[in-house]
Amino acid sequence: AIHLRDYRAPAWWVDEVELDVSIADDGHAEVAATLSLRRNEAVPAAPLQLDGEALELLALAVDGRALPAPASFVRDGRLELADLPARCRLSTRVRIRPDLNTTLSGFYRSKDGYFTQCEAEGFRRITWFPDRPDVMSRYTVTLHANRERFPDLLANGNRVAEGEEEGGRHWARWVDPFPKPCYLFAMVAAKLDRLDDTFTTASGRTVDLAIYVEPGKLDQCGFAMHALKKSMRWDERRFGLELDLDRYMIVAVGDFNMGAMENKGLNIFNTKYVLARPDIATDVDYMNIDRVVAHEYFHNWTGNRVTCRDWFQLSLKEGLTVFRDQEYGSDEYSRAVQRIQEVRGLRAAQFPEDAGPMAHPIRPASYEEINNFYTATVYEKGAEVVRMIHTLLGEDGFRRGMDLYFERHDGQAVTCDDFVSAMQDASGVDLAQFRRWYEQAGTPRLGARTAFDAATGRWTLTLEQSNPETAYERRLQEEGLRFERGPLHIPVALGLLDAHGREILPTTVLSLTEASGRFEFDLSAHGLKAAPLPSLLRNFSAPVALDYQYGDSDLATLMAHDSDEFNRWEAGQRLATRLMLAGVAQVQAGSEAAVPDLFVDAFAAVLAKADADPAFAAEALTLPSEAWLGDQMTVIDPDAIHRVRTLFRRTLAERLRSQFEALLVRHEVAGAYAPEPAAMGRRALRNLALGYLMTLDDSALQLKALSQFRDADNMTDQFAAFSLLAHSDTPLREVALNEFYARWKDEALVVDKWLAVQATSPLSDARARVRELMVHEAFDLKNPNKVYALVRTFCAANPLHFHAADGSGYAYAAGVIRELDPVNPQVASRVARAFDRWRRFDDGRQAYARRALESIRDLPGLSADVAEVVGRALA
Ligand code: ARG
Ligand code: ZN
Repeated sequence: AIHLRDYRAPAWWVDEVELDVSIADDGHAEVAATLSLRRNEAVPAAPLQLDGEALELLALAVDGRALPAPASFVRDGRLELADLPARCRLSTRVRIRPDLNTTLSGFYRSKDGYFTQCEAEGFRRITWFPDRPDVMSRYTVTLHANRERFPDLLANGNRVAEGEEEGGRHWARWVDPFPKPCYLFAMVAAKLDRLDDTFTTASGRTVDLAIYVEPGKLDQCGFAMHALKKSMRWDERRFGLELDLDRYMIVAVGDFNMGAMENKGLNIFNTKYVLARPDIATDVDYMNIDRVVAHEYFHNWTGNRVTCRDWFQLSLKEGLTVFRDQEYGSDEYSRAVQRIQEVRGLRAAQFPEDAGPMAHPIRPASYEEINNFYTATVYEKGAEVVRMIHTLLGEDGFRRGMDLYFERHDGQAVTCDDFVSAMQDASGVDLAQFRRWYEQAGTPRLGARTAFDAATGRWTLTLEQSNPETAYERRLQEEGLRFERGPLHIPVALGLLDAHGREILPTTVLSLTEASGRFEFDLSAHGLKAAPLPSLLRNFSAPVALDYQYGDSDLATLMAHDSDEFNRWEAGQRLATRLMLAGVAQVQAGSEAAVPDLFVDAFAAVLAKADADPAFAAEALTLPSEAWLGDQMTVIDPDAIHRVRTLFRRTLAERLRSQFEALLVRHEVAGAYAPEPAAMGRRALRNLALGYLMTLDDSALQLKALSQFRDADNMTDQFAAFSLLAHSDTPLREVALNEFYARWKDEALVVDKWLAVQATSPLSDARARVRELMVHEAFDLKNPNKVYALVRTFCAANPLHFHAADGSGYAYAAGVIRELDPVNPQVASRVARAFDRWRRFDDGRQAYARRALESIRDLPGLSADVAEVVGRALA
């Protein structure tokens, strides 16, 4: 394991990098690099150490003098040179094999072009280099390749020269004016179509924008360009941050491990987050594209201008940039709905992470493989931590903190502490205790008790936090690292309602800093006869699990009246969770579950007000997921959960049928499709209603779904109907699956949807189908999007079948992971995370899961990526 406490500043700086990359026609490439080295006088002299992986070293020279036997300088994947002059130029020449690089890290081939992914440690697969983010250099890059096959030769910065070469080849030279860490390096050699545009910045500079896509897909990049320009304007307005480049490029590639990458001036994106057209992309896809384009653009300041000192600080750029893209989303769409979706995502991915073997704080103290730490914790919980700072400082204080952060650290590689210090110094808010959020793993539990004295009108709130030990601290102890847990600084936003649901205390932010705290309120002015109803943790003011004994009818009141929209949604989720878990207990005890009237009535009340805010209603009418319900149980029972959730859905549909049917009619969206918030909300609500109605096994409704599937002019409506039909136990299922595939088999991203729908099927043959699809022409183990769509979706979003009692889901997943590990360890490791919850199930399932995990652990040559995940799961 690598430890944060072992961090040492680099012994050598690299001021300049000159790369000359020549792509041969047979699929290999030669990379000649010249590094201008300078000894770091601030630390004791030490040999130069360079990282390299899968490099064939052909030549090595210092200040132009060749060193004989270059390979003799390489030991354990490091090139080490002692006794270098304090300033010198080191030249290396290596051969690399992008055509054989299935890891999609470094320089690799996708379809007919070559692309890079260097974060976190991919640059070492391109050339020998100190591959660490605190070494920042100016790059000049010259690319050579066949002109016919690779007309586009791109790298970071500006193209300064280009020319022809013999043999039908050409070259282009790029200079990036900004020093950068090597993880932000990018280059592309391909034949692409390009969408051009320009943007005039707040200070009046005109910059060139370009989106490069596979030939024939130009009609699918207009929205991404629109999103880019919106993000640029937003960052100017909200944070006063302007683009610093003359040219900003986005390149879309179909083979990509993650979502997208913020390489300076040359973002490389998974096609999933660029390509969109109304007939192939859903509202959700449009929204994701908007957010990811914004996210990568925002990195230009939070990540690139100010970067991370080391990879332990990853959340410095990711948590902050996610917070920024969330705020962008809130300004562009409905703030409440965005918040609900964020919290749902946090609970679906981050809470379980904290509760499982991979638990870590947003700034971990150790790791084995950094690629395993691009996690929900570092990203989403990291954003929650930044959001709490925002809550404590207020918008103005936060903005002053950002300004000071850039004033102090522009051009530097810094730590999370530096960020918090800037926030504290600019605002005067003491954040000393708050820093524990960076060090401590786990989801805090926040207990609340209240007391009301009607005679005096005094209302008392007692808050208690507990921070349960996680797998993270247990491991630190084993590694001999001392660690002290303590109370966190938790901002708790509170409002109070009277018995009629009228607000008597508007949102007030309390700071809980001790293990427990008492807060008293004088409510005598309100002449209350009964205790007020607290609306706690408004807008989800902290990433904690709240324990408060709300009565069922209190929750119904909050659902109907709370002025905080997030808590209106939250109250419904709380009520549904409680009643569904009671149903699960009944089923387990051998009786039938029932849906209480109070719940149907509360639901009906939300439905009755749905027209006022369809997007919100669609969220409020969505029941908590099976996974969330399982996470609330001591021993997860996937079968009982599925049965009860299905019963709740069907009962609601039976009791509220006419209301749902009325929504279908009322919220038909007229006119051409536009990915615009109001229409998106109406489509979401309408399709949610259709989903409820489809539980009724009514053939008229099924035919309605079939005609929506066939006639919709947009993928949102088509896909909603398609998934319902594909999950229905009727002959229409095959009709829908066949028609959809026949129509879309040439659109890779739509085929991913077709795979994902089958992976989430609740029908009894789901596992068998998924296995069959592994050998279907539509599947490709080498393509991450395909693996995510089919395999990861099955493991992560189909708890009923992945956790099948006969262990078949586990055996299947283990088989895929073993096959995938030698091909692409990063993707294999992501799939392996599906086993995070294995100890939460009964003994029978645990035995199967253990066997599956051990079969992976015992694979000869297992990657560090998967070894870390599986090792922790078994520990
Ligand atoms: N920095 C990229 C993004 O969030 C993620 C790249 C992660 N890549 C990886 N191989 N772990 O915006
Ligand atoms: Zn990011």
